[in-house]
Amino acid sequence: MYWSGAAFCIFLFITHTSGVPPVIRVGALFPKHTGKHSSELAFRYAVHRLNRDKSLLPETNIVYDIEYVSRFDSFDTVQKVCRLVQVGVQAIFSPTDSVLATHINSICDALDIPDIGRSTHDFSINVHPSQQYVNNAFIDVIRYLNWTRFGILYEKDYGIINLHQLSRSIQAEVHMRKVSQASYLSVLNEFKNKEIHNIIIDISSDGITALLKNILQQQMNEYKYHYFFTSFDLETFDLEDFKYNFVNITSFRLVDIGDVAVKEILKDLEFFGRTIFQESDANLYLRKAVTIETEPALIFDSVYVFAIGLQTLEQSHTLYLSNLTCDDEIPWNGGLSLINYINAVEWKGLTGPIQFKEGQRVQFKLDLIKLKQHSIVKVGEWTPQGYLNITEPSVFFDSGSMNVTLVVITILLNFRKRHT
Ligand SMILES: *[C@@H]1O[C@H](CO)[C@@H](O)[C@H](O)[C@H]1NC(C)=O
Ligand SMILES: *[C@@H]1O[C@H](CO)[C@@H](O)[C@H](O)[C@H]1NC(C)=O
Ligand SMILES: *[C@@H]1O[C@H](CO)[C@@H](O)[C@H](O)[C@H]1NC(C)=O
Ligand SMILES: *[C@@H]1O[C@H](CO)[C@@H](O)[C@H](O)[C@H]1NC(C)=O
Ligand SMILES: *[C@@H]1O[C@H](CO)[C@@H](O)[C@H](O)[C@H]1NC(C)=O
Repeated sequence: MYWSGAAFCIFLFITHTSGVPPVIRVGALFPKHTGKHSSELAFRYAVHRLNRDKSLLPETNIVYDIEYVSRFDSFDTVQKVCRLVQVGVQAIFSPTDSVLATHINSICDALDIPDIGRSTHDFSINVHPSQQYVNNAFIDVIRYLNWTRFGILYEKDYGIINLHQLSRSIQAEVHMRKVSQASYLSVLNEFKNKEIHNIIIDISSDGITALLKNILQQQMNEYKYHYFFTSFDLETFDLEDFKYNFVNITSFRLVDIGDVAVKEILKDLEFFGRTIFQESDANLYLRKAVTIETEPALIFDSVYVFAIGLQTLEQSHTLYLSNLTCDDEIPWNGGLSLINYINAVEWKGLTGPIQFKEGQRVQFKLDLIKLKQHSIVKVGEWTPQGYLNITEPSVFFDSGSMNVTLVVITILLNFRKRHT
Protein backbone atom coordinates (compact mmCIF):
# COMPACT_ATOMS: atom_id res chain seq x y z
CA MET A 1 0.00 0.00 0.00
CA TYR A 2 2.72 2.46 0.86
CA TRP A 3 4.37 2.19 -2.51
CA SER A 4 1.48 3.47 -4.50
CA GLY A 5 0.07 6.14 -2.25
CA ALA A 6 3.15 7.64 -0.77
CA ALA A 7 4.80 9.05 -3.83
CA PHE A 8 2.04 11.61 -4.08
CA CYS A 9 2.03 12.70 -0.46
CA ILE A 10 4.17 15.73 -0.96
CA PHE A 11 3.50 18.24 1.76
CA LEU A 12 4.56 21.77 1.26
CA PHE A 13 6.06 23.58 4.18
CA ILE A 14 5.90 27.10 2.95
CA THR A 15 7.67 28.59 5.93
CA HIS A 16 10.44 26.03 6.04
CA THR A 17 13.25 25.72 3.58
CA SER A 18 13.42 22.15 2.38
CA GLY A 19 16.42 20.05 3.16
CA VAL A 20 17.98 17.30 5.09
CA PRO A 21 19.64 17.70 8.49
CA PRO A 22 23.37 18.47 8.67
CA VAL A 23 24.06 15.03 10.08
CA ILE A 24 22.51 11.86 8.75
CA ARG A 25 23.14 8.70 10.70
CA VAL A 26 23.12 5.27 9.14
CA GLY A 27 23.66 1.83 10.61
CA ALA A 28 25.31 -1.19 9.05
CA LEU A 29 25.38 -4.86 10.00
CA PHE A 30 28.26 -7.10 9.02
CA PRO A 31 28.84 -10.77 9.69
CA LYS A 32 30.87 -11.62 12.74
CA HIS A 33 34.02 -13.75 12.70
CA THR A 34 34.32 -14.31 8.99
CA GLY A 35 37.82 -12.93 8.66
CA LYS A 36 36.61 -11.07 5.59
CA HIS A 37 36.41 -7.34 5.76
CA SER A 38 36.00 -6.33 2.16
CA SER A 39 32.30 -5.47 2.54
CA GLU A 40 32.89 -3.34 5.59
CA LEU A 41 35.78 -1.62 3.87
CA ALA A 42 33.62 -0.85 0.84
CA PHE A 43 30.92 0.55 3.11
CA ARG A 44 33.30 2.78 5.02
CA TYR A 45 34.92 3.89 1.79
CA ALA A 46 31.58 4.82 0.22
CA VAL A 47 30.65 7.01 3.19
CA HIS A 48 34.12 8.54 3.23
CA ARG A 49 33.90 9.29 -0.48
CA LEU A 50 30.46 10.88 -0.14
CA ASN A 51 31.57 13.10 2.72
CA ARG A 52 34.75 14.01 0.89
CA ASP A 53 33.42 15.04 -2.46
CA LYS A 54 30.30 16.87 -1.30
CA SER A 55 28.78 17.08 -4.75
CA LEU A 56 25.77 14.99 -3.79
CA LEU A 57 25.03 16.32 -0.31
CA PRO A 58 26.93 19.57 0.15
CA GLU A 59 25.33 20.48 3.49
CA THR A 60 25.19 17.05 5.04
CA ASN A 61 27.64 14.69 6.67
CA ILE A 62 26.90 11.01 6.88
CA VAL A 63 28.02 9.22 10.00
CA TYR A 64 27.71 5.52 10.66
CA ASP A 65 27.44 2.91 13.37
CA ILE A 66 28.49 -0.64 12.66
CA GLU A 67 27.34 -3.80 14.41
CA TYR A 68 28.57 -7.34 13.88
CA VAL A 69 26.06 -10.15 13.84
CA SER A 70 26.11 -13.91 13.56
CA ARG A 71 23.72 -15.67 11.24
CA PHE A 72 23.10 -18.23 13.94
CA ASP A 73 21.99 -15.70 16.52
CA SER A 74 18.84 -13.89 15.53
CA PHE A 75 18.17 -12.77 19.10
CA ASP A 76 21.47 -10.93 19.25
CA THR A 77 20.82 -9.49 15.79
CA VAL A 78 17.49 -8.04 16.88
CA GLN A 79 19.16 -6.47 19.94
CA LYS A 80 21.74 -4.86 17.76
CA VAL A 81 19.28 -3.53 15.25
CA CYS A 82 17.36 -2.00 18.16
CA ARG A 83 20.53 -0.40 19.43
CA LEU A 84 21.03 1.21 16.03
CA VAL A 85 17.45 2.43 16.11
CA GLN A 86 18.04 3.96 19.54
CA VAL A 87 21.14 5.75 18.30
CA GLY A 88 18.91 7.30 15.66
CA VAL A 89 19.79 5.84 12.29
CA GLN A 90 17.91 6.91 9.18
CA ALA A 91 18.63 3.73 7.29
CA ILE A 92 20.10 0.30 7.94
CA PHE A 93 22.44 -1.42 5.51
CA SER A 94 22.33 -5.15 5.92
CA PRO A 95 24.54 -7.11 3.57
CA THR A 96 24.07 -10.27 5.59
CA ASP A 97 22.42 -13.40 4.30
CA SER A 98 18.75 -14.12 3.90
CA VAL A 99 18.35 -15.88 7.26
CA LEU A 100 18.85 -12.69 9.22
CA ALA A 101 17.32 -10.42 6.61
CA THR A 102 13.80 -11.31 7.73
CA HIS A 103 14.46 -10.32 11.34
CA ILE A 104 16.18 -7.10 10.38
CA ASN A 105 13.45 -6.22 7.97
CA SER A 106 10.61 -6.82 10.40
CA ILE A 107 12.01 -4.14 12.72
CA CYS A 108 12.67 -1.71 9.90
CA ASP A 109 9.22 -2.31 8.51
CA ALA A 110 7.54 -1.68 11.86
CA LEU A 111 9.40 1.60 12.39
CA ASP A 112 9.46 2.78 8.76
CA ILE A 113 13.24 2.80 8.56
CA PRO A 114 14.62 2.04 5.09
CA ASP A 115 16.35 -1.33 5.03
CA ILE A 116 18.89 -1.44 2.25
CA GLY A 117 20.35 -4.82 1.48
CA ARG A 118 19.03 -8.24 0.67
CA SER A 119 15.50 -8.27 1.86
CA THR A 120 12.54 -8.45 -0.50
CA HIS A 121 9.85 -7.11 1.80
CA ASP A 122 8.19 -3.79 2.57
CA PHE A 123 10.47 -0.95 3.51
CA SER A 124 13.42 -2.58 1.91
CA ILE A 125 15.49 -1.80 -1.12
CA ASN A 126 17.32 -4.80 -2.53
CA VAL A 127 20.36 -3.78 -4.50
CA HIS A 128 20.99 -7.34 -5.63
CA PRO A 129 19.55 -8.01 -9.07
CA SER A 130 16.04 -9.36 -8.93
CA GLN A 131 16.08 -13.11 -8.35
CA GLN A 132 13.54 -13.70 -11.07
CA TYR A 133 15.65 -12.01 -13.73
CA VAL A 134 18.87 -13.65 -12.62
CA ASN A 135 17.17 -16.99 -12.91
CA ASN A 136 16.11 -16.18 -16.45
CA ALA A 137 19.69 -15.27 -17.27
CA PHE A 138 20.94 -18.70 -16.18
CA ILE A 139 18.19 -20.45 -18.08
CA ASP A 140 19.04 -18.50 -21.23
CA VAL A 141 22.66 -19.59 -21.06
CA ILE A 142 21.78 -23.23 -20.50
CA ARG A 143 19.48 -23.07 -23.51
CA TYR A 144 22.14 -21.37 -25.55
CA LEU A 145 24.61 -24.09 -24.66
CA ASN A 146 22.03 -26.63 -25.68
CA TRP A 147 22.57 -28.71 -22.60
CA THR A 148 20.33 -31.73 -22.62
CA ARG A 149 21.94 -33.60 -19.79
CA PHE A 150 23.61 -31.89 -16.87
CA GLY A 151 24.27 -31.94 -13.16
CA ILE A 152 23.72 -29.29 -10.52
CA LEU A 153 25.65 -29.03 -7.28
CA TYR A 154 23.79 -26.72 -4.95
CA GLU A 155 24.10 -25.77 -1.34
CA LYS A 156 21.13 -25.26 0.93
CA ASP A 157 20.46 -21.58 1.68
CA TYR A 158 22.94 -20.40 -0.93
CA GLY A 159 21.52 -21.60 -4.19
CA ILE A 160 20.99 -18.77 -6.63
CA ILE A 161 19.13 -20.78 -9.21
CA ASN A 162 15.49 -21.52 -8.60
CA LEU A 163 15.52 -25.23 -9.32
CA HIS A 164 11.75 -25.46 -9.75
CA GLN A 165 11.71 -22.84 -12.43
CA LEU A 166 14.76 -24.34 -14.08
CA SER A 167 13.27 -27.78 -14.39
CA ARG A 168 10.01 -26.32 -15.69
CA SER A 169 11.78 -24.21 -18.31
CA ILE A 170 14.33 -26.63 -19.64
CA GLN A 171 13.72 -29.97 -21.26
CA ALA A 172 16.70 -31.95 -20.10
CA GLU A 173 17.92 -34.77 -17.96
CA VAL A 174 18.93 -32.88 -14.81
CA HIS A 175 20.80 -34.47 -11.92
CA MET A 176 20.40 -32.26 -8.85
CA ARG A 177 22.61 -32.88 -5.85
CA LYS A 178 22.45 -31.01 -2.58
CA VAL A 179 25.99 -30.78 -1.29
CA SER A 180 28.09 -29.59 1.60
CA GLN A 181 31.84 -29.13 1.50
CA ALA A 182 32.24 -32.68 2.76
CA SER A 183 30.37 -34.14 -0.18
CA TYR A 184 31.75 -32.18 -3.14
CA LEU A 185 34.24 -34.88 -3.96
CA SER A 186 31.83 -37.80 -3.90
CA VAL A 187 29.25 -35.97 -6.03
CA LEU A 188 31.89 -34.99 -8.56
CA ASN A 189 32.98 -38.61 -8.64
CA GLU A 190 29.42 -39.75 -9.19
CA PHE A 191 29.03 -37.33 -12.12
CA LYS A 192 32.29 -38.53 -13.57
CA ASN A 193 31.17 -42.15 -13.42
CA LYS A 194 27.80 -41.29 -14.94
CA GLU A 195 29.57 -39.34 -17.68
CA ILE A 196 27.80 -36.13 -16.81
CA HIS A 197 30.09 -33.54 -18.28
CA ASN A 198 28.08 -30.35 -17.98
CA ILE A 199 27.84 -29.19 -14.41
CA ILE A 200 26.26 -26.15 -12.75
CA ILE A 201 28.02 -25.14 -9.55
CA ASP A 202 25.56 -23.27 -7.35
CA ILE A 203 27.42 -22.98 -4.06
CA SER A 204 28.55 -20.14 -1.83
CA SER A 205 31.80 -18.41 -2.68
CA ASP A 206 33.32 -19.80 0.51
CA GLY A 207 33.33 -23.30 -0.93
CA ILE A 208 34.66 -22.60 -4.38
CA THR A 209 38.36 -22.95 -3.61
CA ALA A 210 37.74 -26.38 -2.10
CA LEU A 211 35.56 -27.39 -5.01
CA LEU A 212 38.17 -26.37 -7.57
CA LYS A 213 40.70 -28.51 -5.72
CA ASN A 214 38.28 -31.46 -5.82
CA ILE A 215 37.85 -31.06 -9.57
CA LEU A 216 41.60 -31.36 -9.96
CA GLN A 217 41.72 -34.38 -7.67
CA GLN A 218 39.12 -36.11 -9.78
CA GLN A 219 40.98 -35.11 -12.94
CA MET A 220 37.83 -33.54 -14.24
CA ASN A 221 39.64 -30.53 -15.66
CA GLU A 222 39.68 -31.29 -19.35
CA TYR A 223 37.92 -30.15 -22.50
CA LYS A 224 34.98 -32.50 -22.26
CA TYR A 225 33.84 -30.86 -19.03
CA HIS A 226 31.94 -27.62 -18.79
CA TYR A 227 31.40 -25.93 -15.43
CA PHE A 228 28.91 -23.11 -15.15
CA PHE A 229 29.41 -21.27 -11.86
CA THR A 230 26.54 -19.23 -10.46
CA SER A 231 28.90 -17.17 -8.30
CA PHE A 232 29.52 -13.69 -9.70
CA ASP A 233 33.00 -13.75 -8.14
CA LEU A 234 34.80 -16.29 -10.28
CA GLU A 235 37.51 -13.84 -11.27
CA THR A 236 38.60 -13.47 -7.68
CA PHE A 237 39.61 -17.16 -7.51
CA ASP A 238 42.88 -18.70 -8.53
CA LEU A 239 42.26 -20.56 -11.78
CA GLU A 240 45.90 -21.05 -12.69
CA ASP A 241 45.65 -24.86 -12.68
CA PHE A 242 42.73 -24.74 -15.10
CA LYS A 243 44.15 -22.49 -17.73
CA TYR A 244 45.98 -24.77 -20.10
CA ASN A 245 43.87 -27.85 -20.52
CA PHE A 246 40.78 -26.55 -22.31
CA VAL A 247 38.35 -27.18 -19.48
CA ASN A 248 35.27 -25.01 -19.97
CA ILE A 249 34.46 -22.65 -17.14
CA THR A 250 31.72 -20.08 -17.58
CA SER A 251 30.03 -17.63 -15.25
CA PHE A 252 28.43 -14.23 -14.96
CA ARG A 253 29.91 -11.18 -13.30
CA LEU A 254 28.07 -8.10 -12.14
CA VAL A 255 30.91 -5.63 -11.71
CA ASP A 256 32.01 -4.26 -15.05
CA ILE A 257 35.74 -4.14 -14.32
CA GLY A 258 36.44 -3.06 -17.88
CA ASP A 259 34.74 0.28 -17.22
CA VAL A 260 37.10 3.22 -16.72
CA ALA A 261 35.07 4.84 -13.94
CA VAL A 262 34.88 1.52 -12.11
CA LYS A 263 38.64 1.09 -12.36
CA GLU A 264 39.20 4.56 -10.90
CA ILE A 265 36.98 3.86 -7.93
CA LEU A 266 38.63 0.50 -7.26
CA LYS A 267 42.06 2.11 -7.27
CA ASP A 268 40.92 4.76 -4.84
CA LEU A 269 39.28 2.11 -2.68
CA GLU A 270 42.52 0.19 -2.52
CA PHE A 271 44.35 3.33 -1.47
CA PHE A 272 41.74 3.98 1.20
CA GLY A 273 42.15 0.39 2.42
CA ARG A 274 45.88 0.89 2.82
CA THR A 275 45.41 3.98 4.92
CA ILE A 276 42.88 2.27 7.16
CA PHE A 277 44.55 -1.08 7.61
CA GLN A 278 48.23 -1.84 7.83
CA GLU A 279 49.89 -1.99 4.45
CA SER A 280 50.41 -5.75 4.72
CA ASP A 281 46.85 -6.43 5.80
CA ALA A 282 45.43 -4.46 2.92
CA ASN A 283 46.43 -7.29 0.60
CA LEU A 284 44.21 -9.61 2.55
CA TYR A 285 41.21 -7.45 1.94
CA LEU A 286 41.81 -6.59 -1.65
CA ARG A 287 43.52 -9.11 -3.80
CA LYS A 288 44.08 -6.73 -6.64
CA ALA A 289 42.84 -3.29 -7.44
CA VAL A 290 41.37 -4.63 -10.67
CA THR A 291 38.90 -7.01 -9.06
CA ILE A 292 36.34 -6.65 -6.34
CA GLU A 293 33.90 -9.19 -5.03
CA THR A 294 30.29 -8.56 -5.85
CA GLU A 295 29.09 -8.09 -2.28
CA PRO A 296 31.37 -5.14 -1.44
CA ALA A 297 30.55 -3.56 -4.79
CA LEU A 298 26.85 -3.84 -4.00
CA ILE A 299 27.37 -2.23 -0.62
CA PHE A 300 29.24 0.65 -2.16
CA ASP A 301 26.37 1.10 -4.60
CA SER A 302 23.79 0.85 -1.79
CA VAL A 303 25.34 3.76 0.06
CA TYR A 304 25.29 5.87 -3.08
CA VAL A 305 21.74 4.92 -3.92
CA PHE A 306 20.74 6.04 -0.43
CA ALA A 307 22.60 9.33 -0.82
CA ILE A 308 21.04 10.03 -4.21
CA GLY A 309 17.61 9.30 -2.72
CA LEU A 310 18.32 11.85 0.00
CA GLN A 311 19.50 14.37 -2.55
CA THR A 312 16.31 14.15 -4.58
CA LEU A 313 14.20 14.28 -1.46
CA GLU A 314 16.02 17.41 -0.38
CA GLN A 315 14.85 19.25 -3.45
CA SER A 316 11.19 19.16 -2.48
CA HIS A 317 10.94 17.93 1.09
CA THR A 318 12.23 18.46 4.55
CA LEU A 319 13.41 15.38 6.32
CA TYR A 320 12.40 15.53 9.98
CA LEU A 321 14.10 13.18 12.35
CA SER A 322 12.42 11.59 15.31
CA ASN A 323 13.52 9.48 18.24
CA LEU A 324 12.55 5.89 17.67
CA THR A 325 12.75 2.83 19.84
CA CYS A 326 11.90 -0.81 19.41
CA ASP A 327 9.84 -0.63 22.61
CA ASP A 328 7.05 1.54 21.34
CA GLU A 329 6.42 0.90 17.73
CA ILE A 330 5.80 4.43 16.60
CA PRO A 331 7.01 4.63 13.01
CA TRP A 332 9.20 7.39 11.67
CA ASN A 333 7.08 9.74 9.63
CA GLY A 334 10.02 10.67 7.38
CA GLY A 335 10.76 7.08 6.42
CA LEU A 336 7.98 6.68 3.93
CA SER A 337 8.98 9.49 1.62
CA LEU A 338 12.65 8.65 1.98
CA ILE A 339 12.16 5.09 0.82
CA ASN A 340 10.02 6.24 -2.08
CA TYR A 341 12.78 8.56 -3.24
CA ILE A 342 15.36 5.80 -2.89
CA ASN A 343 13.12 3.51 -4.87
CA ALA A 344 13.03 6.06 -7.69
CA VAL A 345 16.82 6.36 -7.97
CA GLU A 346 18.41 5.62 -11.32
CA TRP A 347 22.16 5.44 -11.31
CA LYS A 348 25.17 3.68 -12.75
CA GLY A 349 27.36 2.21 -10.03
CA LEU A 350 30.12 -0.35 -9.66
CA THR A 351 27.52 -2.98 -10.45
CA GLY A 352 26.30 -1.26 -13.59
CA PRO A 353 22.96 0.39 -14.28
CA ILE A 354 20.61 0.49 -11.31
CA GLN A 355 16.86 1.02 -11.21
CA PHE A 356 14.21 -0.31 -8.86
CA LYS A 357 10.62 -1.31 -8.99
CA GLU A 358 8.95 -1.76 -5.64
CA GLY A 359 12.27 -2.27 -3.95
CA GLN A 360 13.49 -4.87 -6.45
CA ARG A 361 16.38 -4.13 -8.76
CA VAL A 362 15.08 -4.43 -12.29
CA GLN A 363 17.92 -2.77 -14.15
CA PHE A 364 21.39 -4.32 -14.30
CA LYS A 365 23.86 -5.92 -16.67
CA LEU A 366 25.56 -9.27 -16.30
CA ASP A 367 28.72 -9.96 -18.26
CA LEU A 368 29.05 -13.55 -19.39
CA ILE A 369 32.67 -14.60 -18.99
CA LYS A 370 34.57 -17.73 -19.95
CA LEU A 371 37.99 -19.06 -19.21
CA LYS A 372 40.20 -19.03 -22.27
CA GLN A 373 43.72 -20.35 -22.55
CA HIS A 374 45.42 -17.58 -20.63
CA SER A 375 42.72 -15.53 -19.03
CA ILE A 376 39.05 -14.98 -18.45
CA VAL A 377 37.36 -13.17 -21.29
CA LYS A 378 34.00 -11.51 -21.69
CA VAL A 379 31.96 -13.41 -24.25
CA GLY A 380 28.56 -11.77 -24.00
CA GLU A 381 26.11 -10.12 -21.68
CA TRP A 382 22.63 -10.45 -20.29
CA THR A 383 20.19 -7.64 -19.51
CA PRO A 384 16.52 -7.73 -18.55
CA GLN A 385 15.69 -5.92 -21.79
CA GLY A 386 17.98 -7.53 -24.34
CA TYR A 387 18.30 -10.98 -22.75
CA LEU A 388 21.35 -12.96 -23.72
CA ASN A 389 23.67 -11.42 -26.29
CA ILE A 390 26.65 -13.63 -27.07
CA THR A 391 29.41 -11.66 -28.74
CA GLU A 392 32.04 -14.41 -28.86
CA PRO A 393 30.22 -17.59 -29.86
CA SER A 394 33.43 -19.24 -30.98
CA VAL A 395 34.71 -19.71 -27.42
CA PHE A 396 31.92 -22.13 -26.71
CA PHE A 397 32.40 -24.25 -29.73
CA ASP A 398 35.91 -23.77 -31.00
CA SER A 399 37.91 -26.89 -31.03
CA GLY A 400 40.87 -25.81 -28.97
CA SER A 401 43.49 -28.41 -29.74
CA MET A 402 40.84 -30.78 -30.97
CA ASN A 403 40.63 -29.50 -34.52
CA VAL A 404 36.90 -29.82 -34.91
CA THR A 405 35.19 -27.79 -37.61
CA LEU A 406 33.09 -24.81 -36.64
CA VAL A 407 30.01 -25.30 -38.77
CA VAL A 408 27.53 -25.06 -35.91
CA ILE A 409 28.38 -21.45 -35.20
CA THR A 410 26.27 -20.00 -37.98
CA ILE A 411 23.24 -21.84 -36.73
CA LEU A 412 23.70 -20.55 -33.21
CA LEU A 413 24.13 -16.97 -34.27
CA ASN A 414 20.58 -16.96 -35.51
CA PHE A 415 19.33 -18.33 -32.26
CA ARG A 416 16.60 -16.14 -30.78
CA LYS A 417 14.43 -16.76 -27.85
CA ARG A 418 11.42 -15.13 -26.28
CA HIS A 419 10.35 -15.00 -22.69
CA THR A 420 6.80 -15.87 -22.08
C1 LIG B 1 21.34 -29.43 -29.50
O1 LIG B 1 21.19 -30.72 -28.93
C2 LIG B 1 20.42 -31.61 -29.68
C3 LIG B 1 20.25 -32.91 -28.92
O2 LIG B 1 21.48 -33.39 -28.46
C4 LIG B 1 21.12 -31.84 -31.03
O3 LIG B 1 20.33 -32.67 -31.80
C5 LIG B 1 21.30 -30.50 -31.70
O4 LIG B 1 22.03 -30.65 -32.89
C6 LIG B 1 22.04 -29.52 -30.83
N1 LIG B 1 22.08 -28.25 -31.47
C7 LIG B 1 23.18 -27.53 -31.58
C8 LIG B 1 23.03 -26.23 -32.25
O5 LIG B 1 24.26 -27.90 -31.13
C1 LIG C 1 15.11 13.27 20.78
O1 LIG C 1 15.68 13.14 22.08
C2 LIG C 1 16.60 14.16 22.41
C3 LIG C 1 17.22 13.82 23.74
O2 LIG C 1 16.34 13.16 24.58
C4 LIG C 1 15.91 15.51 22.40
O3 LIG C 1 16.83 16.53 22.71
C5 LIG C 1 15.33 15.74 21.02
O4 LIG C 1 14.61 16.95 21.01
C6 LIG C 1 14.41 14.61 20.61
N1 LIG C 1 14.04 14.82 19.23
C7 LIG C 1 12.80 14.68 18.80
C8 LIG C 1 12.56 14.96 17.37
O5 LIG C 1 11.88 14.36 19.54
C1 LIG D 1 24.98 -7.35 -28.73
O1 LIG D 1 26.18 -6.77 -28.28
C2 LIG D 1 26.89 -6.08 -29.29
C3 LIG D 1 28.22 -5.65 -28.72
O2 LIG D 1 28.09 -5.07 -27.46
C4 LIG D 1 26.06 -4.92 -29.78
O3 LIG D 1 26.75 -4.23 -30.80
C5 LIG D 1 24.74 -5.46 -30.30
O4 LIG D 1 23.92 -4.40 -30.69
C6 LIG D 1 24.04 -6.27 -29.25
N1 LIG D 1 22.87 -6.91 -29.82
C7 LIG D 1 21.68 -6.85 -29.25
C8 LIG D 1 20.58 -7.59 -29.93
O5 LIG D 1 21.47 -6.25 -28.21
C1 LIG E 1 34.90 -27.16 -24.11
O1 LIG E 1 35.51 -26.24 -24.96
C2 LIG E 1 36.10 -26.80 -26.08
C3 LIG E 1 36.76 -25.69 -26.85
O2 LIG E 1 37.68 -25.03 -26.07
C4 LIG E 1 35.05 -27.52 -26.92
O3 LIG E 1 35.68 -28.19 -27.99
C5 LIG E 1 34.33 -28.54 -26.07
O4 LIG E 1 33.26 -29.08 -26.78
C6 LIG E 1 33.78 -27.88 -24.82
N1 LIG E 1 33.20 -28.88 -24.00
C7 LIG E 1 32.03 -28.73 -23.44
C8 LIG E 1 31.57 -29.86 -22.59
O5 LIG E 1 31.35 -27.74 -23.58
C1 LIG F 1 44.53 -28.50 -36.98
O1 LIG F 1 44.48 -28.99 -38.29
C2 LIG F 1 45.33 -28.32 -39.17
C3 LIG F 1 45.11 -28.83 -40.61
O2 LIG F 1 44.29 -29.96 -40.60
C4 LIG F 1 46.77 -28.55 -38.71
O3 LIG F 1 47.67 -27.85 -39.58
C5 LIG F 1 46.93 -28.02 -37.31
O4 LIG F 1 48.21 -28.29 -36.81
C6 LIG F 1 45.92 -28.65 -36.40
N1 LIG F 1 45.99 -27.98 -35.11
C7 LIG F 1 46.03 -28.64 -33.97
C8 LIG F 1 46.12 -27.81 -32.74
O5 LIG F 1 46.02 -29.86 -33.91
